[in-house]
Amino acid sequence: MNSTLETIFRRKSVRNFKEAVIDDDTLEIILRAGMAAPSAVDKRPWEFILIKEKNTLLELARSLPYAKMAEKAAAGIVVAGNTLKQWGSGDLGYWVQDCSAATENILLAVESLDLGAVWTALHPYKDRKKIVTDLLGIPEHVVPLNFIPVGIPAGNPEPKDKYNPGVIHYEKW
Ligand SMILES: Cc1cc2nc3c(=O)[nH]c(=O)nc-3n(C[C@H](O)[C@H](O)[C@H](O)COP(=O)(O)O)c2cc1C
Repeated sequence: MNSTLETIFRRKSVRNFKEAVIDDDTLEIILRAGMAAPSAVDKRPWEFILIKEKNTLLELARSLPYAKMAEKAAAGIVVAGNTLKQWGSGDLGYWVQDCSAATENILLAVESLDLGAVWTALHPYKDRKKIVTDLLGIPEHVVPLNFIPVGIPAGNPEPKDKYNPGVIHYEKW
């Protein structure tokens, strides 16, 4: 197996972190990986809000229902879609797909660096999006897709083996 496949199969959600700092160069590489993702008509409608302030991480951990792990994260990234930059609009807009591709790149980059992260959902929940939008001052045309706490993994989380031949349909359903 090559190193790309090893990273893909090793990736798992990490929800326990050691208290630690991640240096800025490493955070930049992670964001660069996000921006290397494919996007419809190469519109790159993503925006990234990098959060290192402990108080902000604590506030997000407190106010979001499924992001308690951010308490101990070294940093957090909100991946958001800029609806003015995306290809298409409304129900036919592509920002969710584009930002999801960027998110997976971020999660794989994190894994490859022996760090840990987890996708916590914001979109499509109005209440979660409002919490993050208000706290971080996100403009109206930008929609937060997720919040990704990033840190040094605590414990030994294991990846799941999800291979399921039953979901593969050969030639026809
Ligand atoms: C769209 C989406 C939303 C998710 N939301 C949350 C969340 O709010 N909180 C959380 O702890 N994990 C969340 N996850 C992570 C999933 O629970 C996790 O990916 C799944 O259990 C599979 O485990 P794995 O990532 O370790 O392979 C989300 C993942 C996706 C793709």
